Amino acid sequence: MKVKGKHYRTIWLKEHNPETVQIIDQTKLPHKFQILDLRTVDEMAAAIREMYLRGAGLIGAAAGYGIYLASLSAPGDPEAFEKAMTDAADLLIKTRPTAKNLEWAVNKQLHTIASEHSVEEKRRAALHTAVEIADFDAEACRQIGLHGMKLIEEIAQGKKGEPVNILTHCNAGWLAFVDYGSATAPIYAAHDRGIPIHVWVDETRPRNQGASLTAWELGEHGVPHTLIVDNTGGHLMQHGMVDLVIVGSDRTTVTGDVANKIGTYLKALAAKDNGIPFYAALPSSTFDWGITDGIREIPIEERDPREVKYIHGNLICPLGTPAKNYGFDVTPARLVTGLITERGICQPNRESILKIFPEKR
Ligand code: MRU
Repeated sequence: MKVKGKHYRTIWLKEHNPETVQIIDQTKLPHKFQILDLRTVDEMAAAIREMYLRGAGLIGAAAGYGIYLASLSAPGDPEAFEKAMTDAADLLIKTRPTAKNLEWAVNKQLHTIASEHSVEEKRRAALHTAVEIADFDAEACRQIGLHGMKLIEEIAQGKKGEPVNILTHCNAGWLAFVDYGSATAPIYAAHDRGIPIHVWVDETRPRNQGASLTAWELGEHGVPHTLIVDNTGGHLMQHGMVDLVIVGSDRTTVTGDVANKIGTYLKALAAKDNGIPFYAALPSSTFDWGITDGIREIPIEERDPREVKYIHGNLICPLGTPAKNYGFDVTPARLVTGLITERGICQPNRESILKIFPEKR
């Protein structure tokens, strides 16, 4: 993705200093484009927890680099090295519980490191795997774009030159991954292909990732879009102003239940009621192959209630008002039209998902 004409990923190794990882500080957007240096696993964990970086794919890649940073400072004694790696893994996994990608990346790192012999080889493997995780994420999202674009293209054929109106929630954009995004990848691909599109951007209270991140990235890429408050989607759908909903996912069961940013379920209900296709876009690293009931089994992150009670430091309710801050909800498979993955589009059920991921049978 380009920012002011320069290509960026969301995470990378510092030039001439591969012991430092750099990220875009997402808490400063859309007003400031600022790069942060991270040198230790503690700094990486804090960056994930405090949401300097966020989004399922990106926190997975960040966890991969976090383990690499931990390997650099871990003691040379093999036993102490191994303990440092498990401590780093625990620390990273506890930062944010819902996105499967984080756990996936940490386990991939631990597995690779365990298969090497010397500490030096383990460090080299950790670097290699961190880069591999990031590259996988970017390439998977690029593929999601190509598959998802076909859906937009089909709808465009019936619109006689009028833009295809797509609604998205939160930020499943390139900022939430290493590049391209999941929900936005088909949008960018369609726009680049010259298909007329327009995106409705949910602001996404309480942290406003839609307003501050999705609107910013769509603007940088020149994609026509309009910001709306979270409760607007249903009204737009009733009035024929939405052709397609594409959201991301933080964890998807093998049966097709989709956990995504809080409020997604309500969009899916409204889409169902209005006969509008509702797709979730996700790389395979977001699947939780071991669970079948998303509502019961997916851990839902609860964040600080102050995020609900304060907007930019201003209290918006009586001081003593109790508040709850659930970060995610689960949309059951029956409300999902399809899943857009790097291997193609499938239906939200075990048979269809395992057909394109047969190695998970
Ligand atoms: O809390 P966040 O910003 O890390 O949440 C992740 C998300 O941006 C969304 O849930 C997104 O739609 C999932 S895809 C990265």
